[in-house]
Amino acid sequence: MARDTVTIIDNATGRRIELEVRRGTMGPPAMDISRLYRDFGFLTYDPGFQSTASCSSAITYIDGDKGILLYRGYPIEQLAEQSTFLEVAYLMLYGRLPNAEELDRFSRTIAKHTMIKESLKSFYQGFYHDAHPMASMVGVVGSLSAFYHDSTDIHDPASRELAALRLVAKMPTIAAGCYKYSIGEPFMYPRNDLSYCGNLLHMMFSVPTEDYVVDPVAEKALDMIFILHADHEQNASTATVRLAGSSGANPFACISSGITALWGPAHGGANEAVLKMLEEIGDASNIPKYIARAKDKNDPFRLMGFGHRVYKNYDPRAKIIRRMCHQVLEKFGDANDPLFELAMRLEEIALQDEYFIERKLYPNVDFYSGIIYKALGIPVNMFTVMFAIARTVGWVAQWMEMIAEPDQRIGRPRQIYTGHAQRDYVPLDQR
Ligand code: ACO
Repeated sequence: MARDTVTIIDNATGRRIELEVRRGTMGPPAMDISRLYRDFGFLTYDPGFQSTASCSSAITYIDGDKGILLYRGYPIEQLAEQSTFLEVAYLMLYGRLPNAEELDRFSRTIAKHTMIKESLKSFYQGFYHDAHPMASMVGVVGSLSAFYHDSTDIHDPASRELAALRLVAKMPTIAAGCYKYSIGEPFMYPRNDLSYCGNLLHMMFSVPTEDYVVDPVAEKALDMIFILHADHEQNASTATVRLAGSSGANPFACISSGITALWGPAHGGANEAVLKMLEEIGDASNIPKYIARAKDKNDPFRLMGFGHRVYKNYDPRAKIIRRMCHQVLEKFGDANDPLFELAMRLEEIALQDEYFIERKLYPNVDFYSGIIYKALGIPVNMFTVMFAIARTVGWVAQWMEMIAEPDQRIGRPRQIYTGHAQRDYVPLDQR
């Protein structure tokens, strides 16, 4: 059988460079260039990693042209419709769907780890009262490594699993703490009788002086949004977690670095940016002005919640969220919420515009998620925090997968140096 290779010819020397081709279960093949420098003296150049597979992974698959997203092979639509976030978390971490007993045990284990150390609570007091909750979250999550020495041995699978469970379990508690501190209310302890998202709603919105009943529609909507955000293969934050983890850094530090990468408006910060943009646009009559700005190369403005590096078709998550908007607004807001109307009108106009058609720019997951969060009473500066809670399971699953790789090594990209060639130091009095 012919070898699965690609041959590149170096036109300067006529030398033939033969590269092995690696093929996954699905998706485009990859040329294995790992020995290209050692054997042939060439580097590859791919800023933004547009054509680079940085790892092999069995967790998430995206077909950007067809708008397909699979977690461990299961279509996102089926999981969003029929599963729960904790079931998806199990699937991410252990590679298969749990049976009823396994799911029950897993849910109880997660519930057991929801508390944070009392002294960790004092960390919040160190932040200025108007600190962005993402800033507090980066700090508090990073500091977990100072509390859980028994789960920072990355070479021990049991220790890795314990760190993963702790992170998934404690993120809602930490996030609710960020919120409570920002509004000056007392922190609420987690309640282990509630579901993952029910507990989060309780910790965010209950107060010690009153009973709080979790609304099942809000709980279900949040659970579904969390499923949609659980993982998305090698995006900027996941790649950051893997890169930080490749140096042997502890999992709490790695997840904290993922949160920082998520924060940017080109990534997870887009949900906050979308809502601010919709509020700024204000009225459908202003849409053409903003579309024109988005198309103007001299204007840094971009239509937030539009476009994606991998999806060149409608983001399947956005389709699900768009449908969910109707349900949530009917229950909690105004079914004719002007922001939702505005978002739908903006989408309609953009999707008919040659600029967006040519570039295959479609709404992404963040275009509608903010409208749901807003209807649930979640403040705008908590939107990306919500994303971080859900994505933690993807980050830890990817981190565990990477550490378990037998030939795992430190991630170390190279560069094309464009600075000065070697030159001699000029003493100060001669300059
Ligand atoms: N508004 C206007 N033009 C856009 C937009 C947008 N939202 N997105 C891309 N374009 C244009 C670019 O200007 C570029 O045009 P050109 O070919 O004439 O130069 C072309 O479309 C390709 O865009 P790139 O920036 O090269 O695409 P890239 O893959 O690097 O970026 C990104 C993807 C960052 C998501 C981009 O589309 C963007 O900034 N979108 C808005 C922010 C956003 O919604 N981010 C959330 C992403 S989803 C997530 O992280 C959960």
